[in-house]
Amino acid sequence: MQIQLANKIALVTGAGAGIGRGIALALAEAGATVLVNDQNAESAYETVAQIAGQNGQAQAIVADISDERAVKQLFEHIAGTYDGLHVLVNNAGFNLFKGIVDTTPDDWDRIFAVDLRGLYLVTRHALRLLQAAGDASIVNIASVHAQLTVANITAYAAAKGGVVAIGRSLAQELGPFGIRVNTISPGFVMTPLLERWLDAEPDRAATLARVNSYHPLGRIGTPGDIGALVTFLASPYASFITGANVPIDGGLSTRLMH
Ligand SMILES: NC(=O)c1ccc[n+]([C@@H]2O[C@H](COP(=O)([O-])OP(=O)(O)OC[C@H]3O[C@@H](n4cnc5c(N)ncnc54)[C@H](O)[C@@H]3O)[C@@H](O)[C@H]2O)c1
Repeated sequence: MQIQLANKIALVTGAGAGIGRGIALALAEAGATVLVNDQNAESAYETVAQIAGQNGQAQAIVADISDERAVKQLFEHIAGTYDGLHVLVNNAGFNLFKGIVDTTPDDWDRIFAVDLRGLYLVTRHALRLLQAAGDASIVNIASVHAQLTVANITAYAAAKGGVVAIGRSLAQELGPFGIRVNTISPGFVMTPLLERWLDAEPDRAATLARVNSYHPLGRIGTPGDIGALVTFLASPYASFITGANVPIDGGLSTRLMH
């Protein structure tokens, strides 16, 4: 079995770095033409260059997915070039480590504007193109924090819980149109987002060793691990999977503390 996504058009939000880049590279490797969205132009173009370097097809589309006007323009641009969108990966997001008192209303709104409302905006404006594709797939990137979490990350955990809930309802709404909707919940994945957290720790190496040791597989994930799962979920091999929330965390979420 080999996944073949030739002639498929895929949009990945936040694909200029980390998990989004890993997903974009994997989809392109399977033959899809990847529309690389990011709010950071330089990062988006770097991902496109990496895809070109592996002989894949990609195009950068710079937009902040929390801005509805920018999202509308993004889809006008896509509709001007392509007849349909086969794969939508809602990946763009960021986290916030703050206690509830330190989390200002602006912090709260910003997390929700990107991690939840951004996903809603992109999905809403993508629908016409997804329906036109005939057989489309949406993959939303939630987090282990939607199910199991730690102190001082309430806004992010709430937003990611919302991402999981959206997947359950949307799978039922869009199934009749031939659109599958799945969610994945990564645990620790080595990306710039995780690097920022590690860099803020007093002893980076010790923290990383400790985090690795929590995992039955002895390591944290890579963007390539996530890209492989998303590519499978976007492919015909997953044609009977919708409404699922798949953990991808090296076994982290099986553990009780003792
Ligand atoms: N890294 C992890 O351990 C981890 C674990 C679970 C879930 N996640 C989720 O995976 C997704 C990607 O995380 P990551 O670790 O790769 O993050 P990252 O910060 O390394 O990369 C995120 C990318 O998204 C872009 N982006 C951010 N806001 C945007 C916006 N409004 N519009 C367009 N682009 C935007 C950034 O410019 C950046 O290129 C996020 O939704 C995150 O919550 C990450």
